[in-house]
Amino acid sequence: MGEDEVSSEENIVRISLIGTHIDLKDGKRNVFRRTLETVPEIEANCFAIGGDHLTSFMRVIANVAEDGQRLTLGSYTLDENADAYLDGNKFFQRHAVVVGSTGSGKSWTTAHILEQVAELPNANALVFDLHGEYTPLVGDGIRHFHIAGPGDLDKGTNLDGGSIYLPYWLLDYEAMISMFVDRSDQNAPNQTMLMSRAVTEAKKEFLKKGDHKDVLGNFTIDSPVPFDLDRVISEIRQLNEEMVDGTRGKKQGDYFGKLSRLIDRLENKRTDRRLGFLFQGGKDTNEYKWLEILSSTLIGGAQDQPESKGGVKIIDFSEVPSDILPLIVSLVARLAFSLQQWMAPGKRHPVALFCDEAHLYIPDRSEGNAANDVSISIFERIAKEGRKYGVGLVVISQRPSEVNRTVLSQCNNLVSMRLTNAEDQGVVRRLLPDSLGGFSDLLPILDTGEALVVGDASLLPSRIRIAKPSSRPNSGTVDFWDKWSTSEAVGSIPAAVDGWRKQTQQT
Ligand SMILES: Nc1ncnc2c1ncn2[C@@H]1O[C@H](COP(=O)(O)OP(=O)(O)OP(=O)(O)O)[C@@H](O)[C@H]1O
Ligand SMILES: [Mg+2]
Repeated sequence: MGEDEVSSEENIVRISLIGTHIDLKDGKRNVFRRTLETVPEIEANCFAIGGDHLTSFMRVIANVAEDGQRLTLGSYTLDENADAYLDGNKFFQRHAVVVGSTGSGKSWTTAHILEQVAELPNANALVFDLHGEYTPLVGDGIRHFHIAGPGDLDKGTNLDGGSIYLPYWLLDYEAMISMFVDRSDQNAPNQTMLMSRAVTEAKKEFLKKGDHKDVLGNFTIDSPVPFDLDRVISEIRQLNEEMVDGTRGKKQGDYFGKLSRLIDRLENKRTDRRLGFLFQGGKDTNEYKWLEILSSTLIGGAQDQPESKGGVKIIDFSEVPSDILPLIVSLVARLAFSLQQWMAPGKRHPVALFCDEAHLYIPDRSEGNAANDVSISIFERIAKEGRKYGVGLVVISQRPSEVNRTVLSQCNNLVSMRLTNAEDQGVVRRLLPDSLGGFSDLLPILDTGEALVVGDASLLPSRIRIAKPSSRPNSGTVDFWDKWSTSEAVGSIPAAVDGWRKQTQQT
């Protein structure tokens, strides 16, 4: 190209109309509305706002939430002086997802939100913490629990000490069957039928003994009523060995030998120390009152606790074996949902469930795994109906493409951190409204701790730099090079071996 030739350039800017700024409305100056009351004419001039104008505009956006309960996330990337607020009601009412590749800042974002929740005097939130990541979070409003591991079993039940027992009788019918009956066994239908019969009988027996006539009339196999597992096992054993009268003397009963595998499974699970939180909680956990004690501790609001101990309850599931993790996490979720469902509408105290690493227990496909089926159906139900009963979900995952689609599609707030995987980006793109599809191009280039926030709770789709929480989760990031550069002996192998044998996490 010669020097005197002028190159002509044409820039095309694609714009999405997202709202209207009104100078004066009903006596109020600078109002921003998410609706489009007028649309610009074709060929109208376009202006980019910058400098002081931008700062004032962001103030307008930030002020909108001023009169409600404000949840701050951090500051806008566009203007670091303007605080980014969310509407705390809408964020939890219509569920939320926090996604991002590993190390992009999800746990820190969650911790930042939790710290603000914990400051509210009557907060109520449960955090499903799968790796003990949130242990460092402290404060008056935060309590820590862990599902009792093999190392806790001999210490007895102690909700104050933080170890939780979730007795087997809390499992609903489907969950119990998925645990004890092997679907692939040719006798599975017989085993299922007899198991449910025996459990129903055992529950009836328990209610009769305790003289709970009112419950006796209405209960079903799913009712959370304790029962004697020994009785169930011995009844099934008897059927498995039964000889009946035949035409030519004694012959084998209908179920003879068909229940052996069921009995083995029952016995194995009952004595497995890793499952001690289900089967070895001791006498207290098999009493009628236990459900009330457990529920008040876990699901009650801060003010329902003696001495008002705090409404954010972090439950560490790190010692629960991974094959039954979906059953156990969903059991706690169901506890929260059922209590809200059976509560008088005027008395419901909203509860938010923070589901970290959700792909592990709310998977998109159950892959024929019965525990996954149980969990998926509970979380789908909460996603669809939770709003009515005051149960909010915050689904947190590094693999949105592996999280159940029904649950994701019910989430009306999206906090997406850096996402590099194309499949995951695709899922997030589909969660965005059509007009904002282009927004997803930003996903791979976001900085650590930076998020795209879209949804009911934020007035404008925005790019936000999330503020750091004051106490930081164990992000689990190990500095290879730094560690390798030190010259001290580490010497932690013997303790790890010991921990492995005892199945107890070393601290
Ligand atoms: N808001 C932030 N500001 C600055 N640095 C941050 C922020 N959030 C996260 N980081 C940095 O990123 C690291 C990883 O963050 P985090 O543990 O939250 O990741 P994650 O998305 O939860 O990862 P994983 O999926 O593996 O659990 C932190 O240790 C911290 O150094
Ligand atoms: Mg994390």
